[in-house]
Amino acid sequence: METVLSGIRSTGNLHLGNYFGALSNFVKMQHDNKCYFFIADYHSLTTHPDPKILHPNVKNVLSEYLAAGIDPDVATIYIQSDVPQVAELYLLLNMHAFIGELERTASFKDKVRKHSENVNAGLLTYPVLMAADILIHRATRVPVGKDQEQHLEMTRKFARRFNNFYGVDYFPESLPYNFGKDSVKIPGLDGSGKMGKSEGNGIYLADEDAVIRKKVMRAVTDSGPTEPNSPMSDSIRNIFTIMENVSTPDTVQYFLDKYNRCEIRYGDLKKQLAEDIIKMIAPVRERIKEISSNDAYLSKVAREGAEKARESADKTVSEVREIMGIVRF
Ligand code: TRP
Repeated sequence: METVLSGIRSTGNLHLGNYFGALSNFVKMQHDNKCYFFIADYHSLTTHPDPKILHPNVKNVLSEYLAAGIDPDVATIYIQSDVPQVAELYLLLNMHAFIGELERTASFKDKVRKHSENVNAGLLTYPVLMAADILIHRATRVPVGKDQEQHLEMTRKFARRFNNFYGVDYFPESLPYNFGKDSVKIPGLDGSGKMGKSEGNGIYLADEDAVIRKKVMRAVTDSGPTEPNSPMSDSIRNIFTIMENVSTPDTVQYFLDKYNRCEIRYGDLKKQLAEDIIKMIAPVRERIKEISSNDAYLSKVAREGAEKARESADKTVSEVREIMGIVRF
């Protein structure tokens, strides 16, 4: 059995890409692994230090995870800042992280380019905090997207360096968790690549029906097929890809046939897509609303999750202290 850890920054709502991608896999894998799912609010502070939105964002993500089917009785779900041992491990790991390697991290260079007005030390040491998140439970598998692969590589480097420096075999190799063929990539509605928060091309789990309709109707298309069985442009293929995830196979086939016979009307295609997205998402949205209005439930989940996470975190930090020679009088 693997110890799996996944973190998500609390900087906004989840979209269909998250839902059909990682989240549906988390829901399945929570039964076969020791899973930790946490909300990285410390990490959010590196770019979004706004006291007014920090907690509402955490609450959103927590409600959305629970609504999607993460079961707090099966997996451990917690908020990063509820486990201060993470901050201590971060401090300790920082003693073995080199400024040069942190400055060379792609995500750091990217942030420097985009937000030159706020290049704080938290940003520089972001990968160390992420390594602390992972190593605090000595996780062996971490589901990450492409943009986080370098951070995971750095986690392995920090772990190896720690083991070598102190002559121990303490931290494991934290490998990526690959969903393989179960990995669903949901494209955006703008004819480009994948659906993403920063791309502004997403449909969110919290979107109301009217918003979903409007977004889908505005999806980028092309001028239509000109001869039977002509190849599809990216924008049309994207629409069909989303459809494959929300509509019945019959519906998809119906529109594919229309496309291949050059009889397709993109307006009809989009209308159908919007209704099928709504059918799938509306119940999730209602569950999110129900959960997020139940503060007693949320605080119970957060408290119990933190307790479970702290147990494992406490053990790691005391062992690391001992390895490093920190002895209490
Ligand atoms: N950096 C990750 C992201 O932006 C979030 C994250 C923080 C994370 N700590 C983690 C992911 C630990 C996996 C493991 O997506």
